[in-house]
Amino acid sequence: MITPVILAGGSGTRLWPLSRKSYPKQFAAFGGAQSLFQDTVTRLSGAGMGRPVVVTSEAFRFIVTEQLGEIGIPPETVFVEPEGRDTAAAILLAALSLADDPDRLMLVAPSDHAIPDAAAFRAAVDEGAVSAREGRIVTFGIAPDRAETGYGYLELHDAAEDTRARPLVRFVEKPDKARAEEMLATGRYLWNAGIFLMRVGTLLEAFAVHAPDLVEPVQASLDKARPDLGFLRPEAGAWGEVRKVSIDYAIMEKTKDLVVVPFPGKWTDLGDWEAVRITHADADGVAGSGDVTAIDCRDSLLWSEGEGQALVGLGLDNIVAVAMPDAVLVADRSRSQDVKQVVEVLRDRE
Ligand code: GDD
Ligand code: MG
Repeated sequence: MITPVILAGGSGTRLWPLSRKSYPKQFAAFGGAQSLFQDTVTRLSGAGMGRPVVVTSEAFRFIVTEQLGEIGIPPETVFVEPEGRDTAAAILLAALSLADDPDRLMLVAPSDHAIPDAAAFRAAVDEGAVSAREGRIVTFGIAPDRAETGYGYLELHDAAEDTRARPLVRFVEKPDKARAEEMLATGRYLWNAGIFLMRVGTLLEAFAVHAPDLVEPVQASLDKARPDLGFLRPEAGAWGEVRKVSIDYAIMEKTKDLVVVPFPGKWTDLGDWEAVRITHADADGVAGSGDVTAIDCRDSLLWSEGEGQALVGLGLDNIVAVAMPDAVLVADRSRSQDVKQVVEVLRDRE
């Protein structure tokens, strides 16, 4: 059995104003019937999959249970972090809570990705499970189409011609632009999808070797965790001492036990408005959602939420325009990564 461990603690500030502190992007639908979080849980349910362990924050705990209720999938545990300590801590917490069953496989997945072909994804998981049972940490690789600096890169020995699991040369988290361009040009790199599959015991051994300082405070926080209305709350004092680091830097860049399963299906980390535009773009590079009209526009995004709120773009070139009932963003497309600064500016004004 594979236990899904779903990370739902990030606040997605680069997607302001759709993604809010109290209602971040993973809980929004992006035009589909279910939210990205619900899609993730659904994709990781069914034959061979156990109930999900969800790691989230104080602000989202009721959204998590409400959205799980809507799709009829009860969780094994919902952890409520006293504060975000990044993904290494969140994943270690889940692993330690399953430590009495070291052979259990855990599939760690972010809740803010769009992966439309769930069957292809399950096939990749089944392929990876074989290596995971042998004690490898399995990553899932996406063929890159641009020198993106917001992702991890997986170096292969040779270009991937098929979707079988294979060992990695190395894992490089978030390279700078020049390095990303070099890697793209070799044809031997895949993007890290941010999804990991391994035995609970394998991951705990990797933490003991590569990030031993995290283990004690996370274990202490778990030992003193307090059940509350169906949630499990790690103790805040010890939790506050955990080093803030992502799993990619803490473990994946260091371990030698990585394999990758190339994933041929469509995959998007809807991390910023540019990613949303790319996923929804028409032949002119224009993406629209809601009551929008684009006249003579190119390479732009027009997004309107809210009943009867018309958004019209005329002659736009490289513009992002997002209209919510209570907030509007108009930005140059090249500044998509900087939208998180907007949130900081607004927060400072509060
Ligand atoms: N519970 C919890 N606590 N979840 C968190 C926290 C936290 O403190 N921080 C982030 N998350 C969640 C986010 O909500 C997201 O679902 C997931 O963990 C990954 O975090 P991101 O912050 O979105 O990571 P990233 O996109 O910059 O990079 C990762 O994903 C890329 C692919 O999308 C890395 O794994 C990259 O290597 C990878 O390419
Ligand atoms: Mg992300």
